[in-house]
Formats: sequence, C-alpha cells, structure tokens
Amino acid sequence: MIDFSTQYLGLKLNGPIVVSSTPLSESLDNVRRMEDAGAAAIVLTSLFEEQLALESRALDEDLSRGTESFAESLDYLPEQSDYRMSHEVYLEHLRRSKSAVKIPILGSLNGNTPGGWVRFAKDMEEAGADAIELNTYALATDRSQTSSEIELQTLELVEKVCQAVKVPVSVKLSQSFTSIPHLVARLEDVGARGVVLFNRFYQPDFDIEMLEVRPTLHFSTPSELLPRLHWAAILYGHTNIDVALTGGVHSADDVLKCIMAGGSMTMMASALHIHGIEHIGRVLADMQYWLEKREYTSLWETRGCLSRRSVPDTSPFDRGNYIKTLSSYSLRQTMAAF
Ligand SMILES: Cc1cc2nc3c(=O)[nH]c(=O)nc-3n(C[C@H](O)[C@H](O)[C@H](O)COP(=O)(O)O)c2cc1C
Repeated sequence: MIDFSTQYLGLKLNGPIVVSSTPLSESLDNVRRMEDAGAAAIVLTSLFEEQLALESRALDEDLSRGTESFAESLDYLPEQSDYRMSHEVYLEHLRRSKSAVKIPILGSLNGNTPGGWVRFAKDMEEAGADAIELNTYALATDRSQTSSEIELQTLELVEKVCQAVKVPVSVKLSQSFTSIPHLVARLEDVGARGVVLFNRFYQPDFDIEMLEVRPTLHFSTPSELLPRLHWAAILYGHTNIDVALTGGVHSADDVLKCIMAGGSMTMMASALHIHGIEHIGRVLADMQYWLEKREYTSLWETRGCLSRRSVPDTSPFDRGNYIKTLSSYSLRQTMAAF
C-alpha cells in the first residue's frame, strides 16, 4: 500500500488530490461523496469582494471602502441576487460541511482590493474553516496602473487577510506576473503559507453575428498543466511556502507530474465536472498501480524529482528550452505530410 499522506499549509492531508473551488461542493451530499472518493480536502466556492461589498452596503456603508474606482465598478457587476449564496448561507454551509466530513474544509475569498470586506476571512475562520484560500484574480485594464502597483495591492490584501485570521492563508495567483519567484517570496514575507498555481482566465468570446462579447466557461484540458508544472518546478527548493497546482489536473499522470515538479498537492475541478466525483478514486487507484509497479512505497519519494533544482540539465526550464524547441522543428517533416 502506497503512503499518500502529505502536509499542506500545516494541515495533514491523507492524499494529493484536493477538490478546488467549484459549485460541486455547494451540495452537502457532494461534500460527503468527495471525502468518500478520496479527496484530501475541499475548497468551497468563493465569496466575492463585490458581493460582500454589495451585501454590506445595506448593513454598513463603511465596509465598501476599498478604492474609489472599486465603488464605481460595482455598478457594472452582477446584482446581489445573481450570486449563488449570500455570505450567511455560505457560512452555514461551511459549518455543515465541517461537521459532515473529517477532511479539512477551506473557505475561499475572491477579490483584489484591500477593503473592509477582508473581515469575512475571520467569519470563515469562526465558522470552522481550516484555512482560507484567497483568490486574487485581477485584470489590468487601467493604463495608469503599473505592474508594481498591482503587485503591491495584492501584497497589501494578502497581508490584511493574514493578519485577520489565525488559520493559514494560501493565495491563488494568476499566471501573468512578470517575476513569479519574487512575488512568491514577497507573499511569504507578508504571511502567506501557500500559493495555488494558477487561476484560469475566463476570456469572453466574440459573437461576430450579434456583435456581442459573451462570457464563456470551458472546462480545462491537461495541456493547461504545463505552465503550472513549469513554475512549480522552478519554485521548488526556493520557497518555504507550499505550492499547490490547479488547472489541467485530470489523470494519475497529471498528479504524478505535479508532485514530481515539487507541488505539495494538486487540485481538481473540471475533471470532476466531466467524469463525476468518483473520478478521484479512479485516479488514486491508477497512481497506486503506477507507483507499486516501480516499487515506490510513498508518493513523496517522487516529490521534486523533476524540479529545476533536481534535474542535471536545467535548460528545459530556461531560455534554452525555447531555443531548442524552435530549432528542433523540421520543415522537411511538415512538408512531407502534404
Ligand atoms: C464551474 C466552475 C466554477 C468555479 N468557481 C470558482 C470560484 O468560485 N472560485 C475560485 O477560486 N475558482 C473557481 N473555479 C476555478 C477552479 O477552482 C479551478 O482553479 C480551475 O477550474 C482550474 O482547475 P481545473 O482545470 O481542475 O478545472 C471554478 C471552476 C469551475 C469549472
């Protein structure tokens, strides 16, 4: 029997697969099924800064204090009734999920300005959250805002949330930062215990007949895993905080790659929407088979073995990979196909 146990944010996990934030966990029955299928923890869906500010406007004008542009932007966002759960319903669901299962339950907060809404992290903690995942999804559309201002805003927000709670905080990051190793080091300085690589961007599609821009949500494919593996492999051994990977984790091979890159654990959402919650059990069984066949006794013997620090040739992680990949492309092969 392979030992799959691991640690993430100081929490003991019984395996490497965590259910990432998805509406699937909004049903208590699903929460139980996730634990039965072998999920090591569950991150609940997010409470959004915009939603919390809308809710608290009615209760407490002061709470919506973030930035001025933030208050204006609320006018373009969904109405309160469009959000799936009010914060009270959310907290109650968190409490019930905690008592329904033994695995850790993480609350998810989603926003990008350090306003009064961060106090909801404390509410999540009081409702029993074992940790807080802070999703800092941000899009730079303002030409006067520099990249360092965006990073500073993220750091300020993370620091505020870390100060508000005693439970560990992880930060779900977007991929589009110029220096991820530097940002991760700064996140560690302000108190984050982990990073989650990476948010998926949900770009809208263009309807050229109706001349409309429409929101789209496609489930991920395993090819999206590559940038996550790349950055986890670069970070391994260079940060004291945990690295989790989300985005494109569908199979046993994907989970193994994440751990070999140096990840502490992996997260699944799309694969569960496509194949069902019981898919977790099948992936764990496939991993067990793979590891036993190669005489491993624990998954962690493989951890970081393909990280940048461990491989003899680091060029695949650097510019060398880019040059080699482009140079190895043979025009003759392509022409032969025609
Ligand atoms: C239907 C759906 C809803 C999601 N809602 C949230 C959310 O509320 N908060 C969040 O941080 N991520 C949310 N995500 C993103 C997932 O947690 C995950 O990071 C992303 O889908 C990449 O993982 P995957 O390739 O396994 O799907 C959602 C994903 C899906 C498919």
